[in-house]
Amino acid sequence: MKIGIDKINFFIPHLYVDMNKLALARNVEPAKFTIGIGQEKMAVAPITQDTVTLAANAAVEILTDEDKEKIDTVIFATESGIDHSKAAAIYVHRLLGLKHHARAFEIKEACYGATAAIQLAKGHIALHPDSKVLVLGSDISRYGLHSSGEVTQGAGAVAILISANPKIMTIEEPSVFHTEDIMDFWRPIYSDVAYVDGKFSNEKYISFFQTVWGQFKAETDMTLADFEAICFHMPYTKMGLKALKSVLDEGYNSDQERLLANYDVSKQYSKVVGNIYTGSLYLSLLSLLELNTDLDAGDRIGLYSYGSGAVGEFFSGIIQPGYRDFLQAEKHEKLLKERKELSIEEYEKIFQETLPTDGSALTLSIDEDPADICLAGIDRHMRQYINKNL
Ligand code: CAA
Repeated sequence: MKIGIDKINFFIPHLYVDMNKLALARNVEPAKFTIGIGQEKMAVAPITQDTVTLAANAAVEILTDEDKEKIDTVIFATESGIDHSKAAAIYVHRLLGLKHHARAFEIKEACYGATAAIQLAKGHIALHPDSKVLVLGSDISRYGLHSSGEVTQGAGAVAILISANPKIMTIEEPSVFHTEDIMDFWRPIYSDVAYVDGKFSNEKYISFFQTVWGQFKAETDMTLADFEAICFHMPYTKMGLKALKSVLDEGYNSDQERLLANYDVSKQYSKVVGNIYTGSLYLSLLSLLELNTDLDAGDRIGLYSYGSGAVGEFFSGIIQPGYRDFLQAEKHEKLLKERKELSIEEYEKIFQETLPTDGSALTLSIDEDPADICLAGIDRHMRQYINKNL
């Protein structure tokens, strides 16, 4: 049975910072941020968007009534969740009006979480071919003002519907994965910013890629020639390129040119959004599928997922006939174009805004947030969400 991505969408908040201006404000040569790191813009979440609303906004645009009837599992992958106990999936389940006869839960392993969710979903569909699983990957990436990781922040979510006979991409067997207990990036529960050993994280990202790619080749006898493109988790757009280049000399010139050209297409969305952690690999996939109009049904795409801590996985998918009819390229172009630029002062102010933690009530103004689903406030430690269309 073919199982894979039936629908896929992303959502980002309507605010961004220009990386040239951030560099100047931090006394850094702008080319370091735009070329050395490879980021042009960074999405910034206003206080009216959190991981729940970003994910719900990503999902609400793609689900039909029929999908809602068939979804019996909602898996929410995040590393910037809003509650240590209650799953963000349950808020989204309600905001989308999904049926009660469904499981809804949250999972975590840094940026790898959404891949784990997709593989769990695949197993579920193999047992229950008539059902569909909604996978959400949603995060707000925070390293802190003036930190070396600041240039690699971002905010956004992906929503992925996994089903039998998918319209966009089947997910193939085998999948190859690798786990090691390392401290390259982590966020203790008392901290709202991540801790990172930047250079070490870069090295591990690449060495995990080489490990899972090597094992994948051994298990499948495939080579670079079998792939039209390889999509990467993109903490910043230069990172995946470094990993790709580390294996490129295995291929012929034609493979190298094709994979580099497609890497360039796959980084276009991330370059103007930043790191969205769990959703980042799938933002790369969306960038490739929506912006490379030469892809054909039957093309094989490789996917490298990496979550610090760390878990890496390499797997592959096959593009399905008519896939373009189920993408949202024009909507995404509009979403990216209609964003509002923040000055550095405005961004710093938003970065430091917090909700009360003493149980007092706060009502947020949601009029300036164009998103359909917003955080409208908090009362007695309970976040108040609004779907403006309900
Ligand atoms: N013009 C052009 N390029 C320039 C330049 C200039 N004027 N000045 C510097 N550069 C280049 C450097 O040569 C370097 O390029 P290479 O990496 O190709 O050598 C690049 O800009 C970055 O320079 P530095 O290494 O000096 O940058 P840094 O020390 O300030 O930190 C970072 C960079 C480590 C990525 C840091 O931003 C960071 O810690 N980010 C968060 C961690 C991260 O994203 N890790 C990635 C792997 S972990 C992961 O994938 C999980 C996850 O999502 C977090």
